[in-house]
Amino acid sequence: MYSIEKTEKWFDSYTDSFKTEGNLLPLQEMKRRHSKRVMGLACAIAESLEWSEENDMWLAHAVGLLHDIARFIQYRDYRTFSDRESFDHGDRGAEILAEEFDWEGIMPEDRNKILTAVRFHNKKEIPADVTLSQYRWCALVRDADKIDVFRLVQHKIDKGTIYDALPKFRDSGMISQELADEVRKTGRGSYANAHSLQDFRLIQLTWALDLNYPVSVVTLKEENIFDKIAEDLKGHGADDIIESLMKKISEI
Ligand SMILES: [Fe+2]
Repeated sequence: MYSIEKTEKWFDSYTDSFKTEGNLLPLQEMKRRHSKRVMGLACAIAESLEWSEENDMWLAHAVGLLHDIARFIQYRDYRTFSDRESFDHGDRGAEILAEEFDWEGIMPEDRNKILTAVRFHNKKEIPADVTLSQYRWCALVRDADKIDVFRLVQHKIDKGTIYDALPKFRDSGMISQELADEVRKTGRGSYANAHSLQDFRLIQLTWALDLNYPVSVVTLKEENIFDKIAEDLKGHGADDIIESLMKKISEI
């Protein structure tokens, strides 16, 4: 059924099933809150783009809320959010939802939009063979997800608690050479080459050029998030990359 309330109830009871002694683990709780914020962002972007066909609001709500559904099992079983050390959480999320979500009354094409968006929300790119009607849901959730991660990371850096959220990363002072080379060559960076907080921030800065909707870029520019990242990264061994990324970002 196309009910936002029912979808939220399903999400709550699914995530509640991971509670032990009444609580999720702190990093699972962080993902639960992230999912709810991404839901709000996906709805806000869809509204600002005036997506108002039947079921559009339910779809925006559902892709946002459900995109990280595999994070709960991933953290329970592997104690990591690293896909390389566990499994691909987009693929697994689509599998979990295909089997466990309540699809009663949902049209097959809408089911496919959700499953495709969840599957590809975490891939480097949306595959070229995704149909146009599915593509925009992938694009939507990818933007909403990135906006929230930009905000979350900035907030935690400002509060001095970033290493609680990124326990594997350390402040090494320098950007890793392999990552810098990769970004120079391809414009993107992989987590495999990221070892420090500065590496993670550089990867984040490349995401700016991967946002699909101008409203997403404008939102983050208004919050000066790109400027703050660039400022933090200056003098860490990749000033040429930062400068060229910031020039491209200013042109969006
Ligand atoms: Fe994700």
